Amino acid sequence: MRILGIETSCDETAAAVYDAERGLLAHALHSQVALHAEYGGVVPELASRDHIQKTLPLIRQVLAESGCRPQDITAVAYTAGPGLVGALLVGAAVGHSLAWAWGVPALPVHHMEAHLLAPLLEPDPPAFPFVALLVSGGHTLLVEVSGVGRYRLLGESLDDAAGEAFDKTAKLLGLDYPGGPALERLARQGNPARFDFPRPMTDRPGLDFSFSGLKTHALTTLRAHDDGSAQTRADIACAFQDAVVDTLAIKCERALRATGLQRLVVSGGVSANQRLRERFAEIDDVKVSYPRLEFCTDNAAMIAYTGYRNFAAGLRPDRLAFDVRARWPLNTT
Ligand code: KG4
Ligand code: ZN
Repeated sequence: MRILGIETSCDETAAAVYDAERGLLAHALHSQVALHAEYGGVVPELASRDHIQKTLPLIRQVLAESGCRPQDITAVAYTAGPGLVGALLVGAAVGHSLAWAWGVPALPVHHMEAHLLAPLLEPDPPAFPFVALLVSGGHTLLVEVSGVGRYRLLGESLDDAAGEAFDKTAKLLGLDYPGGPALERLARQGNPARFDFPRPMTDRPGLDFSFSGLKTHALTTLRAHDDGSAQTRADIACAFQDAVVDTLAIKCERALRATGLQRLVVSGGVSANQRLRERFAEIDDVKVSYPRLEFCTDNAAMIAYTGYRNFAAGLRPDRLAFDVRARWPLNTT
């Protein structure tokens, strides 16, 4: 069984081929960072147009690299949401067209389920059940995972997602898009002892998050202390990052205690953050699994893999009509 995966939910176009016996055969990605950089963020219409140009060449590339002919493909998996509607439509239309032409099923994939399963592509994958922390640009979710398709939402962000908070704080510190990695680099020069930011919603029970206050805290700190120096900005970046990472870790510890589980999966763009990985290594008696760095952020390997796991579990969406969803709660079909 071989699954072609297509990802076009935001600002990365990607394709991959996953084989049931041999694992990941090929994956390729085109980042739109340069395209959106001058606007300071993703411009949805530009994203859609660029996906139109890049999707088919990337599919040709991964088919060639994996030595697959179209007749070797068992099904075509594509990201059906959540994401930017115009961007999603490109992958959905290409995926359905190829599937129809090749006479195979088209499999809609939930982008956050794909992030959740991404660590299973690695050697020594975590066994079910586990707690998953998904930290991306659009979502922060804590999920109890009993198996493929068996997800119980434990907590989520009530306002900004963790990645969104990184991006917005990076912007107010004068850093370029994409903000998360830039803020992490700046924070390395920072003095962690200079500012102490709050850990939102950790002083009361519950597993939800709120990060928009931290961004405001960064802004008021910058206004109160701005001496024009790069050092002050680095100190703020460092305090902000420590606060986000510590808050995420505290909630994960709580979720592990509440569920009695000892395995934790952390995935999505923010899981590439090295400070986060250092802090999570301090959680006692818990095995923490991550995707490899390049699969923390958006990619098609996780889409092909999730399509494969769903198909192997019997999912057979058998229709030509398709839709995409900008918003799509994880535990709904
Ligand atoms: O999972 P992802 O690639 O796309 C979405 O599904 O949203 O996540 C992108 C998010 C962005 O907000 C980006 O700033 C953040 O992940 N991110 C990081 C790092 N790398 C990416 N945040 C903090 N530190 C990083 N190293
Ligand atoms: Zn993503």
